[in-house]
Amino acid sequence: MNKIVTIERHIFEQQKHYPGATGTFTSLLYDLALAAKLISRETNRAGLANLIGATEGENVYGERQQKLDMFADEIIFKMNDHTGRLCAMASEEHDDILSIPPHYDTGKYVLLYDPLDGSSNIDVNVSIGTIWAIFRKVTSGAQGTMDDMLQPGHQLAAAGYIIYGSSTMMVYSTGHGVHGFTLDTSVGEFLLSHPDIRIPDQHKYYSVNHSYEKYWYSGVRRYVKWLQGLYGEGGKPLGNRYIGSLVADFHRNLLQGGVYLYPGDTRDENGYQGKLRLTFEAQALAYICRQAGGYASDGVGDILDLKPHNLHQRVPLFLGNRDLVLKAEKFIRENDKEWLNQYIPFRNGEAPKQKNGKKKKKEKATS
Ligand code: AHG
Ligand code: MN
Ligand code: MN
Repeated sequence: MNKIVTIERHIFEQQKHYPGATGTFTSLLYDLALAAKLISRETNRAGLANLIGATEGENVYGERQQKLDMFADEIIFKMNDHTGRLCAMASEEHDDILSIPPHYDTGKYVLLYDPLDGSSNIDVNVSIGTIWAIFRKVTSGAQGTMDDMLQPGHQLAAAGYIIYGSSTMMVYSTGHGVHGFTLDTSVGEFLLSHPDIRIPDQHKYYSVNHSYEKYWYSGVRRYVKWLQGLYGEGGKPLGNRYIGSLVADFHRNLLQGGVYLYPGDTRDENGYQGKLRLTFEAQALAYICRQAGGYASDGVGDILDLKPHNLHQRVPLFLGNRDLVLKAEKFIRENDKEWLNQYIPFRNGEAPKQKNGKKKKKEKATS
C-alpha cells in the first residue's frame, strides 16, 4: 500500500522547511482546509438546501451576489477570526479590510480571499472554486492595515485554491512546490493525490472568452490566431476550453498544459484594466503557476512584481506555460501601443483613481 498522506500530515511535514516555525502557519492552512470541507458540503447540497440563486445584494463590483458566495465568505471569516493567527482579512465581497473582532487575539498574517469564484456557474452545476492568499504582516501594531494587504505577489507566504468539481480538491504552495489533495468524502479528509505538480511542457489548451473578440486589441487578436495556428509560423492549433470559472480553467491548464487569458480590452472606459482582481484572484494563481514552472503576466511583465495600489484593483491576466505567456507579451509589445499608453499609468498607480474599478456603462446583450 502506498503512503497515505492527509493534508494535516503534509502541512506539518512542510514545516521542516521553516526552521523556527511555531506551528501558527500550519494551523492556519489546516483551518482553510476545514473551511473548504464546509463549503464543499454546501456546494454539493446547494440545490437541496435552497441555497442556489442570487440574493438581493450587490458586491463592490456591482455584481449580484449568489447565496453560496455569501455562505463561503462568512465561513472563511468565521473559521479564522478567533484563532489569533491573523491580524486582518480581506474578501472580494467586501469593500474594506475585515478587522479581527476586538475581543480576539491577533497574529502575524493577513488572509485575502475570493470566497466563491465562478459564481455564475453555481446554478448550472459547473465547477466553481475558492482562491486564497496569505502574506506576513509588515506593519507594526496589532491590527492589520492596507499596507499589509497591498504587497507584491512575490512576497506571498502561501497561496492556494479549492476546486469544487467532479471531486473537491485543494491545491496549495508555501514556496516549495505545488501540492494537490482530493477530498475523500467518505472519511472527510483531504488526501495527497497530486504531489509536486509541474505544468507539462506540452501545451494542450488555450482558454479565453471568445465572445469578447470584438473588444480585443490587435495584438491579443493576433496572439489568439497564433494559438489557433492561423498566424505566424502556423503551428498545430491548441484546443479551446473555457469554463468561465477561473479556478477550473486554471486547474485544467495547470495539469494539462496551456494558457489562460483575460486581457484588457475596449469594452468600456475601464476595459483596458481587464476584469479579474489582482489581489483576490491573480496573485495567488500567479504564485502557484510560478511554483509549478509556469509564468503569469499582465501582458507587460510579471504579475508577481506588481504592487497593488487598490484592494479591488483589476488586472489583465495571461497565465500558464512560460513560453506561451512570453509570446503574448511579445504580440502586445509589438502591436498594442494604444492599450499600453492607457494601461502603463494605471499599472504604475498614476491613473486617476476610480472606486473599486466599478464598471459604469452596461451594454445590452445582442438580442
Ligand atoms: P467571480 O465569480 O469570483 O466574480 O469570478 C468570475 C470570474 C472568473 O472566475 C471567470 O474566469 C471570469 O469571471 C469569467 O468572466 P466572463 O464571463 O467575462 O468570461
Ligand atoms: Mn473570482
Ligand atoms: Mn467571487
